[in-house]
Amino acid sequence: MSERFYITTPIYYVNAVPHLGTFYSTVVADALCRYHRARGQKTFFLTGTDEHGQKIERMARDQGQEPKAYCDGVVAAFEKTWQRMGVSYDRFIRTTDADHEAAVVEMWQRMEKQGDIYAADYEGLYCVGCEDWKTDDEVVIEGDVKLCPTHRRPVEKVKEKNYFFRLSRYQQPLLDFYASHKDFVRPESRHNEVVSFVSGGLKDLSVSRMSVKWGIPVPGDQKHTIYVWIDALTNYLTAAGGPAKIAQDAEARALWTGCHHLIAKDILRFHAVYWPAMLMSAELPMPRGIFCHGYLTVKGQKISKSMPATRVDPNEIADVLGADPLRYFVLREYSLGADGDFTYESLFQRYESDLGNDLGNLANRTIAMSRQFLGDAELVARAPRAGVDPLEELEVDLRTDASDAWMNAVRGWEDFAPGRALDATWAMIRAANAYIDRAAPWKLGKAGQINEVKSVLANAAEVIRRAAMMLAPAMPSAARELLRQIGRENDFGHWPEQDWKGWPGGTFTVPKPVFPRFEAAVRDGFIAKWTAAMGEPVPAPGKPDASGAGATTAAAAISEPAAKAEIGIDDFGRVELRAARVLAAERVPKTDKLLKLTLDLGTEQRTVVSGIAGAYQPEAIVGKTVIYLANLKPAKIRGVLSQGMILAAGDDQVLALSALDRDVPPGTKIR
Ligand code: ME8
Ligand code: MG
Repeated sequence: MSERFYITTPIYYVNAVPHLGTFYSTVVADALCRYHRARGQKTFFLTGTDEHGQKIERMARDQGQEPKAYCDGVVAAFEKTWQRMGVSYDRFIRTTDADHEAAVVEMWQRMEKQGDIYAADYEGLYCVGCEDWKTDDEVVIEGDVKLCPTHRRPVEKVKEKNYFFRLSRYQQPLLDFYASHKDFVRPESRHNEVVSFVSGGLKDLSVSRMSVKWGIPVPGDQKHTIYVWIDALTNYLTAAGGPAKIAQDAEARALWTGCHHLIAKDILRFHAVYWPAMLMSAELPMPRGIFCHGYLTVKGQKISKSMPATRVDPNEIADVLGADPLRYFVLREYSLGADGDFTYESLFQRYESDLGNDLGNLANRTIAMSRQFLGDAELVARAPRAGVDPLEELEVDLRTDASDAWMNAVRGWEDFAPGRALDATWAMIRAANAYIDRAAPWKLGKAGQINEVKSVLANAAEVIRRAAMMLAPAMPSAARELLRQIGRENDFGHWPEQDWKGWPGGTFTVPKPVFPRFEAAVRDGFIAKWTAAMGEPVPAPGKPDASGAGATTAAAAISEPAAKAEIGIDDFGRVELRAARVLAAERVPKTDKLLKLTLDLGTEQRTVVSGIAGAYQPEAIVGKTVIYLANLKPAKIRGVLSQGMILAAGDDQVLALSALDRDVPPGTKIR
């Protein structure tokens, strides 16, 4: 835990204001940073804007503005949005900042000193939208025009004298580095893609432009500006003190080597290949790693500023729901690393069920009951009397659920899996609602058992307190408000202790719903209006003829721009499915839905907790052979370590179990 946690988002181009895609990266980074901060780690969170280069130069010109003045306007919109969304960055970097320009010059000179920069004539295709060179394999041909498949605009032929970076020299050092740092690029599928791309060979990279004026001049040759990606990537060093300081100063170095780059797959090659090669050349240490998340899509099409049909404006949503519910939604709904399709229906659905019914309801009824029974007095915990108290057993269960949740939430946040962390937090919230239902404090109150009422409410309050602390990385304002309402505002910004020590005491305020309900008609009105504003997506352009040489090389795979929610066979290959025979099944005590299964996998046995008890009696499934997902991360459910899951049909309600139509030996692979 002592390592620094330094996290970066991509620095966004200022050709548009924030949208849901950039919101996503930024909020994930913020939530991860808030978690590590709450655990007492030293953290640093960097975001900012990428302002130089041809794209911005043209954009400003089209608007009749000087580039810098144009950038200032867009930057103000970014800063305003991030502030409103609760993004707690330590620095907002701009590539036009003076210390950054100095850092880029330093970086260039360090690479030049190694003999890695040389001048040569260059001719090639360039996409201004991507700010990237394109090979013939990477463009789409329509008639006699060559289009960038991402931007659907013609690529430009560029012929000029350029400076080159000797990227080819770093092929083997990079491969050695990936081999000894298997988690440098995550998830693993991205690591594999990068390795296969680099194995395919690396060409030297053109790193200067003569025709672009809006950029940092090449040291010693002012007719050229430095390629915008060399400029942009260096921002991560600037914020840690710049190349020279990182090379010399232990503090700056410690910060830098704890750095995680959070990006999406559109810019994987720049971060996972060019950037480490540049750092090797400049004799600087590597950051801690790169985490590459998927795309948010609308009707399967990547949300992007150049596609109006995918327009989802986070500010517009925050005007209605508040920023926190939107933050929560993107963190909980999508698994980081995979693509996810956005709909307003699912947003409202989670707002109503997770936030309103689960969390909001737990808080409102606990606070309201305590005020009813205690008035303004402080709620103080009372230990159950062992063996005498009928509530003791329920309380033991609740504590088990809280401790599972703590463990699973910590694992989720540590593993860059906010969705899993929030799943775990919600399991505890739902357990507390079930606990209140069973303990029925209103009945105890009517019967005059006021001590028992206090004990139940104190346990519920303790769950609210722990939940608010655990969901604060996702919903900082809501968490603070919940803690305020239960008189525990000072707990904000901390992570709860692992061990359940019981409610520490606190005075409740008048309850105030944190997630107010919408009338169905009002909600449906927003959904209809916003969905209509998105319009119909444009069909994705065709890919170049696959029979053309090299059309499906690793190079094409890694720069894959198409934004489908479909998965590749590689993605599926990460899933390990096997036939498993159910050896034993028993109910998990005091739950309606869960069975604990012992599975025979041929070579070993596994335990799985499965939510099928509503549809299957334990006796009825012993002896069946089912489809088993073997490589799911283990999780504790109700105190039982569940290793993987079995597949079943149905949504909330299980309708049928998966089965194979012939007998196969347990452990047989399913593909
Ligand atoms: O590439 N889903 O800037 P950019 C998920 N300036 N994330 C998305 C997304 C989507 N639909 N759309 C955008 C640049 N993003 C360079 C970066 S870094 C040294 C320079 C997010 O404005 C995601 O993080 O095009 C993606 O990588 C980034 O925005 C691209 O932002
Ligand atoms: Mg982009």
